[in-house]
Amino acid sequence: MIEDYKNFLKEILIDRSELQARIAELGEEISRDYKGKELLMVCILRGGVFFTVDLMKNVDIPHKVEFMAISSYGAGARESTGDVRITFDLQINIRGKHVLLVEDIIDSGHTLASVIEKLSVQAPASLEICALLDKASRREVDVPIKYRGFNIEDKFVFGYGLDIDDYFRGLPFIGVVDLDKYEPAE
Ligand code: IMP
Ligand code: MG
Repeated sequence: MIEDYKNFLKEILIDRSELQARIAELGEEISRDYKGKELLMVCILRGGVFFTVDLMKNVDIPHKVEFMAISSYGAGARESTGDVRITFDLQINIRGKHVLLVEDIIDSGHTLASVIEKLSVQAPASLEICALLDKASRREVDVPIKYRGFNIEDKFVFGYGLDIDDYFRGLPFIGVVDLDKYEPAE
């Protein structure tokens, strides 16, 4: 079992109301941009799930949602390896659709760069990225982020979809891990 997150929570970086206010703005922007278009949101599991659901509540044009799961880390690692695997693929063809990828965080960029490369061959009408968090200083490959929730510094964060060793995704805020105080469970 993992210990209580309060033991290694350094600070709350973005609280519940800041998250919800920013997501409302993004929803408005997306609703405006995709008006009259067939919008398909693609949630990147598992981290993107809370963001996707709240974003959908704030997009007031008709839209659909699909899910995709990607694995880019070795077990327990905190760095993207660049070895990106689709562990659950889309169940539909996206040809001719306006696809908006919804992701929790862009770090090195390897995960989303690889997803974009894989989906582009299906010839969607458009393919854009909506990321809640952007750790731009960590970028290794360039990815075009159309909608960005927050720029954050290079800190390991958790909550609101983001995990620490697969735990604490359900917290309603984004917290920073104090890596000096966190002991990964064996
Ligand atoms: P990238 O391929 O390096 O851009 O990594 C993106 C993925 O790494 C995200 O989808 C997250 O799952 C994970 N990730 C990156 N930074 C963090 C973090 O600070 N906390 C939790 N997960 C993270
Ligand atoms: Mg993720």
